[in-house]
Amino acid sequence: MSANPRRKFLIAAAATAGAAGIAGALLWHRRSRDERAAQVELPPVRDPEFPNALRLPGSEGMYGVLDAAGAFTMVAKPVRHALVPGTPAQMLAYEIEHQGRTLLNPVLRVRTGTQLRIKFWNALEETSIIHWHGFKVDSNNDGHPHYAVAAGATYDYSFTVTNRAATYWYHPHPHHLTGKQVYLGLAGLFIVEDDEEIALQKALDLQLGETDIPLVLQDRRFDDSGQLVFAPTADENSQGHLGKEMLVNLTPRPHMLAATRVYRFRVLNGSNARMFRLAFRSGERLLDYHVIGTDGGLLERPYPVKEAFLAPSERLDILLDLRDARPGDSVTLASLPFDPMHHEDGAAPSGNAGGEHAHHGAPGESPYTPDGAEIELMRIHVRRQTVYDKAIPKTLSRPERAASVQTKPRIITLDRSRGVWRINGASYDMKATPIVVKRGDTEVWEIRNADHSMPHPMHIHGFQFRVLAREGSPEQVHGLALDERGLATSDLGWKDTVLSWPGETVRIVTDFSHPFLGDQVYMVHCHNLEHEDGGMMLNLKVAT
Ligand code: C2O
Ligand code: CU
Ligand code: CU
Repeated sequence: MSANPRRKFLIAAAATAGAAGIAGALLWHRRSRDERAAQVELPPVRDPEFPNALRLPGSEGMYGVLDAAGAFTMVAKPVRHALVPGTPAQMLAYEIEHQGRTLLNPVLRVRTGTQLRIKFWNALEETSIIHWHGFKVDSNNDGHPHYAVAAGATYDYSFTVTNRAATYWYHPHPHHLTGKQVYLGLAGLFIVEDDEEIALQKALDLQLGETDIPLVLQDRRFDDSGQLVFAPTADENSQGHLGKEMLVNLTPRPHMLAATRVYRFRVLNGSNARMFRLAFRSGERLLDYHVIGTDGGLLERPYPVKEAFLAPSERLDILLDLRDARPGDSVTLASLPFDPMHHEDGAAPSGNAGGEHAHHGAPGESPYTPDGAEIELMRIHVRRQTVYDKAIPKTLSRPERAASVQTKPRIITLDRSRGVWRINGASYDMKATPIVVKRGDTEVWEIRNADHSMPHPMHIHGFQFRVLAREGSPEQVHGLALDERGLATSDLGWKDTVLSWPGETVRIVTDFSHPFLGDQVYMVHCHNLEHEDGGMMLNLKVAT
């Protein structure tokens, strides 16, 4: 092994994409199981830029799938795991032992209506608690930081999953430690299914881990021995901790092999602070892809787009149609350059896509990839011609309509004072409940982000909401608006997180109905995890 093993995996080789492996002859063979399926399959690819096979959820190990039901124990613990291939390193993970299988950060899959009893065992050296992001549960089961348990202690969850089908996720939520614990590895997906979801899987012949593929996007820094590095400076605590390398499903520089058919990607931005502007590129050309769902599940119909912003904790459910691709083609999942709008110090708008903050230093010396920089996340190599006779459904779901309200909106301001990010002029106080809503009420919230600010992905626990309008959006956002309300495709459907850009006003509507008796305390916070840990968060009481 060379002195610096990570180089050979992480540093881009000079060779151009894909060319190397594709020269091989076409291999023809006929599958006896299906006479019609005359298949073309190319030999495995060598891609020096994306040398690592994308980690796919399987039956065990990291991202193993667990059809969850009944009672089980999840342990948060240090594990040794090679994030950089061949370089085992220390990280944190949730572990479930189930029928002889060991699952790490398992993909939990349930049907709506499933009852769960989950014992959380904190085997870390500090306090922690699990939050089920996007779930409609009572506050005892929400993983509010107030319930964080000490090292070695346990916490018992017991709840029924009532959410619509969607891609949710779980992660730690102890105050001041969320960013660090997520960064060091603690996070996993929670896939909920219902009848509409199963119908979609049938219509498109989707299999989780093969053609229905979660993509967890996270940026990380490694030292030369492949260890994760998390030591935010004061600046990074204020702006958010950015990584240098991009991981997809904890795989650096990943590729996946594909056939000529439709793929579904359930994309989660699991980064602490980085935003993505997602696009699929074939050479210089941007491909259309179909957005079929957002945080809280399927949209009424697929929406074709060429790009979409995805802020930390947001999910985008998409279809990529490779039916017209040919074996040998390749497609790159990229984040297009954008203006990250770091205007917190009152700096003039840079207008410079991918522009870097002055004190970030010269590129090349920087320990991180600047926010808004152009990034190649993953390469998809089409290697197999297949017979695929499915079509993308015209209708996906009949989500309930947002409730309408006549009352005046509640104003939520986002700003910064003396280096501290605030909501409604205050920083987090665990004992205070600055917002009290009445159970069963429907409220419109008007989220006003200051001009001298940064983008804040605002999240509410315990409920899903709808985005009603965006005003004062920067051009790069306004350009994606579907209509005069200013919403982009990624604002449609049920949401638990909404991105709010500097100078913008975003209106959302939430129906605070739920079946839980007694007062419940949830939270509202920015999902930039350094902002959250720094106190850009408040308690929200739902009172009976
Ligand atoms: Cu994923 Cu309190 O959040
Ligand atoms: Cu949450
Ligand atoms: Cu923020």
